[in-house]
Amino acid sequence: MSTIIAPSILSADFARLGEEVRAVVAAGADWIHIDVMDGHFVPNLTIGPDVVKALRPHSDRVFDVHLMIAPADPYLDAFAKAGADVITVHAEAGPHLDRSLQHIRSLGKQAGVALCPATPEDAVAHVLDRVDLILVMTVNPGFGGQAFIPAMAEKIRRIRAMIGDRPIRLEVDGGVTPETAAVVAAAGADTLVAGSAVFRGGPAAYQSNIAAIRNGAAGGAGRSAAA
Ligand code: DX5
Ligand code: ZN
Repeated sequence: MSTIIAPSILSADFARLGEEVRAVVAAGADWIHIDVMDGHFVPNLTIGPDVVKALRPHSDRVFDVHLMIAPADPYLDAFAKAGADVITVHAEAGPHLDRSLQHIRSLGKQAGVALCPATPEDAVAHVLDRVDLILVMTVNPGFGGQAFIPAMAEKIRRIRAMIGDRPIRLEVDGGVTPETAAVVAAAGADTLVAGSAVFRGGPAAYQSNIAAIRNGAAGGAGRSAAA
């Protein structure tokens, strides 16, 4: 699988979100990562299904919707209807992860499960046949611009081994820069979310910012193949 770069619009200009989505796609983004926060599961508030719906006409790229909300189940239908393609719930957000994942797939969407930094990889061991994507948080969810937690590289390696030959994408979110992209790609990540490292410098910089992350990941993936 080739590396997917998914800019997080959390770091975009919220007053011009549609233009920002178009700009990062023109600059080489593969997916658009949309961070949904509820002020309860995480200490911040962001956007709901109406914003996803409003953005949908601006791009045909995969909308990768990361739900940092608890409970998540009551909102799955609304995000599916709004135009999400991948819907990711946190393993920590509710007692019935298996049910949530089945529900997402029943809506015809790809199902993802996210793990906070302190959550062990075992949390996904028994849902591997129900997921299309596993998201390893490499910062504590809630805010952009935080520093990558180096201990997560080992968790990424372990989950890569657990995935085996299943068609599951392994996504990393938080503190991704060209340098840490190399670290996570070497550990086995194939899908990289980046907020501040993509949007810094404004639209004129998006193309070089995305290319730098892609190059970093390619270097890391090369090291992993050689290992
Ligand atoms: C954090 C979000 C991330 C965040 C990443 O809770 O899930 O998607 O926007 O931002 P950076 O890349 O700046 O760490
Ligand atoms: Zn995210």
